[in-house]
Amino acid sequence: MQTNRWSEVWVQTDHMRKPLHQKSMIPKEDLPFLNNCYKKIFQGFTRQSQEHLGLKVFIDQQRDYEATQAFMKNPPRDEESLEEWGNRVFEGRKFGVVLNDIQNYSPELMEYMARFLQPLLKVAGLPSGGLGLLFFVGNYGFTPFGVHKENTGEEGFLFHIGPGEKTFYTWKTEDYTRISNGSNTYPPEELMDTAIPHELKPGDMMCIPSDVYHIGHTGDFSISMVLDFLNSPAEQIKLKMAAAVKKLMEEDTGFHPLQPLPFEDTALAQEKLLAQVSLQEPLQRAAREYIMKLQSNGVFYSPSRADHPVEDLSPDTAWKLKDPFPIPYYVNGDELVAFARGHRIKWPASPPLVQILKDWNQGKSIRVHDFPSSDSVNGFQIVCYLLSIGALQKV
Ligand SMILES: [Fe+2]
Repeated sequence: MQTNRWSEVWVQTDHMRKPLHQKSMIPKEDLPFLNNCYKKIFQGFTRQSQEHLGLKVFIDQQRDYEATQAFMKNPPRDEESLEEWGNRVFEGRKFGVVLNDIQNYSPELMEYMARFLQPLLKVAGLPSGGLGLLFFVGNYGFTPFGVHKENTGEEGFLFHIGPGEKTFYTWKTEDYTRISNGSNTYPPEELMDTAIPHELKPGDMMCIPSDVYHIGHTGDFSISMVLDFLNSPAEQIKLKMAAAVKKLMEEDTGFHPLQPLPFEDTALAQEKLLAQVSLQEPLQRAAREYIMKLQSNGVFYSPSRADHPVEDLSPDTAWKLKDPFPIPYYVNGDELVAFARGHRIKWPASPPLVQILKDWNQGKSIRVHDFPSSDSVNGFQIVCYLLSIGALQKV
């Protein structure tokens, strides 16, 4: 059913070129689960030491650093709703909390969204910069940073979770540029005549192409989660590739002195030099690894956490890969380079181990005693590691 919904969205947005309000995109019965994830995200975020990373707290539309401190010191209690928590911490004032990269604080949310987004990726393709999640929480009125559009290529999908309703406003680009002179943070009041309102109910989705000006308005307390679908600029990906090529080169322990180059003929010297130090092979590997890393983690740019519980380690327990996360791999000489949940792993390229990965990727289950017994491959350690990063599930 989801497959059809996403291909419908893909067609109706004209391949993410037009905004779209899609009703009931998230099944109603999943909303309590998501709300529980969000509570855990706040609890987990306040527990970590690197304060304020990706967090913005607004009180009455203004960034507020005292409220940020209060937020960090008072995580939501298990028994209170996020609305009750907000009212307690911010003392009944109008508040807005924006937190980036929430997939890092809730493995359950990342897994749920990875499954939920598979049909989108099948129609829309793999965005070169990956996927990330953020959320807006509060009763702040208009989005505190005003009417804006995202960077070109950063397509957005807003999932309204509720409980309150939200009005989302978009503009036709020509209308917005005419009245605003292209300014980004124009006060919304003066622009509302030309705005197109979309009334969002819990479970509804709003597609926001990167060139569409928009603002949200949330009067009663509500939560909205935004998926960033990042088509990175080529220049940025080139820099990443160059850094990855350098790393791969540093793994190469070979030692091959070059032949002297022609002394006076620059063009010929260049040709001879490149014939001996071609970067084509490491560049291809860098590109392959970049793609495999994203594929291995549902295209989220952040790898999974490495603190998943490691339990039930009997040699007879059968394990399969956690849906929908494959372990893409390739063999390079005597090494096997694999990617699991966004983590890069190097194992010896033993044929039985390659076969195990092949079987896992085909949905088969594997036990610790199926691994070859050799000095270089330890099935027990491999299963432990894969469990710790959330790559396996018990059959
Ligand atoms: Fe936005």
